[in-house]
Amino acid sequence: MRRTKISDLLQQPDFDKEVEVKGWVRTNRGNKYVNFIHLNDGSTIHNLQIVADAEKFDEDFLKQITTGACIRVFGKLVESQGKGQTMEIQAETIELYGTADPTTYPLQKKGHSLEFLREIAHLRPRTNTFGAIFRMRHHMAYAIHKYFNQKGFYYLHTPIVTASDAEGAGSMFQVTTLDLNNVPRNEENQVDYSQDFFARQTNLTVSGQLEGELGAMSLGEIYTFGPTFRAENSNTPRHLAEFWMIEPEMAFYDINDNMDLAEDFLKYLIRYALEHCADDIQFLNDMFDKELIDRLKFVVEHDFVRLTYTEGVKILEESKQKFEFPVYWGADLQSEHERYLVEKHFKKPVILTDYPKEIKSFYMKQNDDGKTVRGMDVLFPKIGEIIGGSEREADYQKLMNRVNELGMNTDPIWWYIETRKFGTAPHSGFGLGFERLMLFVTGMANIRDVIPFPRTPKNADF
Ligand code: 4AD
Ligand code: MG
Repeated sequence: MRRTKISDLLQQPDFDKEVEVKGWVRTNRGNKYVNFIHLNDGSTIHNLQIVADAEKFDEDFLKQITTGACIRVFGKLVESQGKGQTMEIQAETIELYGTADPTTYPLQKKGHSLEFLREIAHLRPRTNTFGAIFRMRHHMAYAIHKYFNQKGFYYLHTPIVTASDAEGAGSMFQVTTLDLNNVPRNEENQVDYSQDFFARQTNLTVSGQLEGELGAMSLGEIYTFGPTFRAENSNTPRHLAEFWMIEPEMAFYDINDNMDLAEDFLKYLIRYALEHCADDIQFLNDMFDKELIDRLKFVVEHDFVRLTYTEGVKILEESKQKFEFPVYWGADLQSEHERYLVEKHFKKPVILTDYPKEIKSFYMKQNDDGKTVRGMDVLFPKIGEIIGGSEREADYQKLMNRVNELGMNTDPIWWYIETRKFGTAPHSGFGLGFERLMLFVTGMANIRDVIPFPRTPKNADF
């Protein structure tokens, strides 16, 4: 007989039938006559109660069934007479797969801090909190593919190892097979990358966008969904060195179409979470963030505010608010500025557009004013920037002018520039940080707690 998942039992209980369940013991409480074992198998936040009568089982055996142990239980599913659960299993046989020594198993009592749980990332998925978060991560990933598939977008796989710096920000992890203790050098005493694996300098991608644009210029509408890497030394609750990004790229979209898609996409995902992760969201709402469900509903039900960077800066300047970082036209907005606009001023998600070109990437479409570009950032409550995107510069000469102005090396991106010579067209796209989305839908405060194995400066454990 195959095991039944606890989530299936809860949905469709077949009372008075024999079933087999397998999972990890959350608690085992009992007396001389009976033990009540609460079992969790990861399929749901809810535990299943197992009733083990003392007369059927050896006392010493039952004593080994402690918190964290893994067991197989066979028995009859019955309606529960006790409080706190609707059903339970009257155990007939129990097999102990693995014990968990109570003196060393770290997840004994509830109420461990999130900081402590990060240090035991191999075990934290067994807590209610991380079970809920990682189930939700799965559902959100699925919803992303579902959304784009329904709209006729193709999932394009862009490379992880690249020779280009898509954002031009220089914060890349180098990929090499050279012997770092004996690096080959050329006549000018520089590293001789011709001897490296790819015969050139390579790095982990910071974004799939440049290759994504090639997809849009052929398949029409594509998206990527993959890991991206940034070697920025940002130790904040919103930055990871390895994070997942979703990047749609669309031919014939201008920036307004791009904003419409971003807003529709985010609302779809949040609605999907509310519909498909109700139990887990309720748990997180009760335990961590009492306003979570209200906030999610609010975002789904209201239009995002759209305004230019220039208008946004004016509001910030006139706010008389004391910010840690000064705000003036030309300044790169910090999370505190973004959150002021969203949480204090508009009390709604905001899409800012038309940023100064100096603080945005080389590929953004240049406005006629010569100062701003058609970039857009979607700003969310508690998060700040959740999406960054733009209409792309489709004009060959204008793109080349900007590349030259910035003194960029065109060698790694010649192919990108060449698409502006052959059948160029207006097109747009954006990137959604998957973990920023997860922060929003789970209500968690630290990005390290919404990815199973976070990668941050000085930390690549597990
Ligand atoms: O604004 P970014 O840097 O934009 C791009 O990479 C563009 N190529 C996207 C595009 O137009 N196709 O990053 C996009 C999003 C940010 O809005 C943020 O949500 C997330 O990626 N992000 C990070 N998330 C976690 N940790 C980091 N270090 C992040 N950096 C960016
Ligand atoms: Mg950005």
